[in-house]
Amino acid sequence: MSDNPHAPNKELAEAATPPTPPTIYRKDYRPPDWLVPDVALGFDLDLAETLVQADIQVTRNGDHGEPLRLEGDGLEPEEVLVDGAASNDWRLEEGALILPLSGDAHRISITTRIQPDKNTQLMGLYASNDMLCTQCEAEGFRRITFFPDRPDVLSRYTVEMRADKERFPVLLSNGNLVREEALEDGRHLAEWHDPWPKPSYLFALVAGDLVANRDSFTTMSGKEVDLAIWVRPGTGDLERTGHAMTALKNSMRWDEERYGREYDLAVFNIVAVSDFNMGAMENKGLNIFNSRYILADPDTATDADFDAIEGVVAHEYFHNWSGNRVTCRDWFQLSLKEGFTVFRDQSFSADMGSAPVKRIEDVRVLRAAQFPEDGGPLAHPIRPDSYMEISNFYTATVYNKGAEVIRMMATLAGDDGFRKATDLYFDRHDGEAATCEDFVLAMEDGAGLDLTVFRRWYEQAGTPQVTAKLDHDPQAKTATLTISQSVPDTPGQSDKQPMVLPLKTALIDRATGQHKGEQLLVLEEAEQRFTFDGFDAPPALSINRGFSAPVTLSSGQDVETLAFLARHDDDSFARYEALQQLVTERLVSEASGSEAEVIDDAMLAQVFADILADDRLEEAMRAELLTLPSESFVGEQMAVIRPDRVNQARQAMRKMLGANLAEQWQQHYVKLAPSGFAMDGAARGARRMRGLALAYLVAGEVGDAAGTAHAHFEAADNMTDRQTALASLAGMEHPLREQALDAFYTRYKDNALVLDKWFSLQALSFHPDVLEHIAALAKHPDFTLANPNRVRSLYGALAGNPSAFHHASGQGYRMLADMVIALDPKNAQTAARFIPPLGRWRRFDEGRAGLMRAELERIRNVDGLSRDTTEQVVKSLG
Ligand code: PHE
Ligand code: ZN
Repeated sequence: MSDNPHAPNKELAEAATPPTPPTIYRKDYRPPDWLVPDVALGFDLDLAETLVQADIQVTRNGDHGEPLRLEGDGLEPEEVLVDGAASNDWRLEEGALILPLSGDAHRISITTRIQPDKNTQLMGLYASNDMLCTQCEAEGFRRITFFPDRPDVLSRYTVEMRADKERFPVLLSNGNLVREEALEDGRHLAEWHDPWPKPSYLFALVAGDLVANRDSFTTMSGKEVDLAIWVRPGTGDLERTGHAMTALKNSMRWDEERYGREYDLAVFNIVAVSDFNMGAMENKGLNIFNSRYILADPDTATDADFDAIEGVVAHEYFHNWSGNRVTCRDWFQLSLKEGFTVFRDQSFSADMGSAPVKRIEDVRVLRAAQFPEDGGPLAHPIRPDSYMEISNFYTATVYNKGAEVIRMMATLAGDDGFRKATDLYFDRHDGEAATCEDFVLAMEDGAGLDLTVFRRWYEQAGTPQVTAKLDHDPQAKTATLTISQSVPDTPGQSDKQPMVLPLKTALIDRATGQHKGEQLLVLEEAEQRFTFDGFDAPPALSINRGFSAPVTLSSGQDVETLAFLARHDDDSFARYEALQQLVTERLVSEASGSEAEVIDDAMLAQVFADILADDRLEEAMRAELLTLPSESFVGEQMAVIRPDRVNQARQAMRKMLGANLAEQWQQHYVKLAPSGFAMDGAARGARRMRGLALAYLVAGEVGDAAGTAHAHFEAADNMTDRQTALASLAGMEHPLREQALDAFYTRYKDNALVLDKWFSLQALSFHPDVLEHIAALAKHPDFTLANPNRVRSLYGALAGNPSAFHHASGQGYRMLADMVIALDPKNAQTAARFIPPLGRWRRFDEGRAGLMRAELERIRNVDGLSRDTTEQVVKSLG
C-alpha cells in the first residue's frame, strides 16, 4: 500500500507484487441500513447442485436513502423479485447485490444455484462424505444466498428442505421441526422454524444418511429437551458418541447451576462431520462438530481426547447464551462471545475434573499459542482495531487471552459479584447484538467495580512484563515487595500504559512452609510497593498464584528459593511454576551459553525425587509437575532462539533425569500398572504418570528401552497407552519402531481420526530422520489436502516439532510453504493458519530468519493468493 515506507517505486511494486486486500476498521462501524426481521429459505438439495430460494422481509433502518446491499460471494442471482414482481433494477458490486428500494418495507425473493460438491473451502454449503452441511461463521452465509451477512442483523428463520429421501433421509436445520412430507419422485420435505432471532452466521442445515444417539434432558423449569448426536451409519461411530452425550447433559446442568441459564428449544442436535475447518460451531439448536470433538471410545481416543471433547461440547453448548441469545454487534467484538465462552468451558472442565491440573493445562496452551502471537508480527488486542480477513482473527489472543481477561474480572468481582454481573449482562442484552464495552459495563454495574483502567486489556496488545522484587528488613521485620510492569511495543502500538494486574500473592515462611493467607494485590501503575509486617526472616515469594494475571513474571529468586517453592508451595500452579522456572532457566542458559547461576544436575534430580516421593500428590498433578517445558517454550525465553541447542539441552536433561532416577521411575512404572481398564480420574492420572515414567526410562536408556516401550504398546488395552508407547518408539532407530507403526496402521487404517494420530506422532518424533519421514508421509496414499484434520495432523506436527521445522537446511520451511501454496486455492482459511510459524522469523538466527523470510516471499508472490493467506504473509513480512 502507498503508506508503506518500504514499498519501492509504486509501478514496480504493482508489477511485481500481487495486490493487498483492503483493511476494515472497527472505528468505521455503522448500524445496518436495512433490517431483516424474517427469512424464509427453500432448498432443493443435491450434492452437485442445490437450488436456494430466499424470501426476505426487509425494513428500512432509520431515515436514509441507501439502497439495500446484500452480500454475496461467488453467487449469480437467477431471479430477483421485489414484492412478488420481477426486478432488473439491481447490480452486482464486489459480489454483493445492490438493490434500490422505494418504500420502507419490502419482500425480496432471490433464487441462486450453488454447487456443494465443488465447495472445497468448506464455507457455506458443502459436501462431506456424501452428506451436505453448512458452515456460516463468520461470512459463509453469503456463499449460500445474498444477504446482509453481518452479526447485527437478527432474523427469524423458516427453512424448507427438499431432497431425495433415500440419499438424504435426515434433514436438519435450526430450531424446531414443524412439518415433514413425502414428495413425488422419491423426494421428501422437512420444514424447520427457529423462533429465536439470530444473525446469519448461526444458520445451519444438514442433510444426509445419518443415525443418532438420542437422549433427553429436563431443564430446571421442567421442560423436556430431545437430544441427538448424529453420525454416519455403519462406521462404528454411533458407539463412540456416549462421552459427548454425557458431556452435553453435564454442560446443560452446569450452566443452569453456575449461570442460571436454561436451554430454550425443545430439541438440541449435534452433527459430527469429518471435513471441518475448525473445532465446532454453535449454530442455534444444531451444533456442527469436527468429528474429532465428538467420537471417542477407549480403544481409539486418548484420555486427552476425552477431555478435549468434554470441553468443546461444553463450549458450543455454552454459546447458546454467550453468543447466540446475546450475540456480537460486529466481528471486532468476537472476544465478547469467544473469550467469555472459553472462560466458561474452562470453569466447567475444572469442575468436572481436577481444577489445579486444568489450570496448569490452560496456562500451557496460553503460553504455547498466545504468548508467541502477542510477541510477533500478528499481535493484536483481544478486541482488534482492524482486519483484512476476519477468519484470521479466530486466534489464541481473542479466545484464550480473552478468557484470561474475563477471569481477571471474575477475580476482581468475587464469586457473588461476578454472578450478579453476568446475570445483569444476560438480562440487559438478551436478544441483542452487543459489544465488549457492554460486557464491561455490566461487570461494573453488576459487581460494583470501576474498570476504567482495566479496559486497557481490550485496547493494548502484548504480554505485560512484570518484575517482582522482595526485600527483607531484619530490623523492622518487614518484607517489601516492589512490582513493576511494562507492556512491550507491538505492530502499530507503542508507548503503552500500565495494565490492571490482579496478582494473588503469599509470603511463605521457609522454616514452616506456611503463610498467613493469600492476598490479592492489584497493580495499576508502572511500579508499586507493598509492605508486609511480622517477618523475622526473609520469606519465599509465591506470586501470580493460580496464574491470576496473564503476564510473564520474573521474581529473580535464587535456585534455593525456587526449589523450596517447587517442593512446598500450597498453590499448585505456583509450585508447578517454580519448577518450570528452575528447568527453563537451566535450559536457556545451556542453549545460549550464558553464565547465569542455575540449578545443577544433583539438585534438580533431588527436587524430582522429592516430588516422586510426595505421597500427598495426585498422580495427574505429579505428572504435570514433572513434565519438562516444551522446546518451543524454552526457545521463546531466549533472545535469539537456537532450536538445535534447545533440543540438545532438553534431551540431555531428560536423559539425565531418566538415568539418575531410574529406580524411582521404575517403581512408579510398576506400582501404577493397572489391574484393568477404568476411566475415573485416578485411573487416568495413573495412566498419565505411568506414561511419563516410561518416557523418562526411555530417555534415560534404562535397560532395554525399546523393549519396554514395545511391551507397553503390546499390552495396551486403550489408546492412551498405545499412543504413549508408539510416540516413544517413533523416535528410536530400532526395528521395533517400524513393527509397531505397521501394526498400528494395519489396525486403524479405516479410522481417519486414529490415522491422524499415526501421521502426527511420526512427524512429532525425536527421530534423527524425522524430516525424511515427513516428506514420505506427505506422499503417503492416505495423505490428502482435502481433509483439514489430515493436513493438520502432518503439517501442524511439522510446525510443532522444532527439530524438524527449524532444521538448518530450511527443508522444514520449504515443505510447509509448498503445502500452503498447494492448499491455498482449495481451502484458504486452513492454508492461512500455517503462516504464523513462518512469521516468527525475527526471533531466530540470521540463517534461519533468511530462509523463513524467503519462503514467506515465495508465498507472497503466488498469483491469485487468497485474502486470508495474503493478510498473514504481508503482516508477517512487516
Ligand atoms: N465459533 C466457533 C467456536 O468457537 C469457531 C468457529 C469459527 C467455527 C469459525 C467455524 C468457523 O466455537
Ligand atoms: Zn466459540
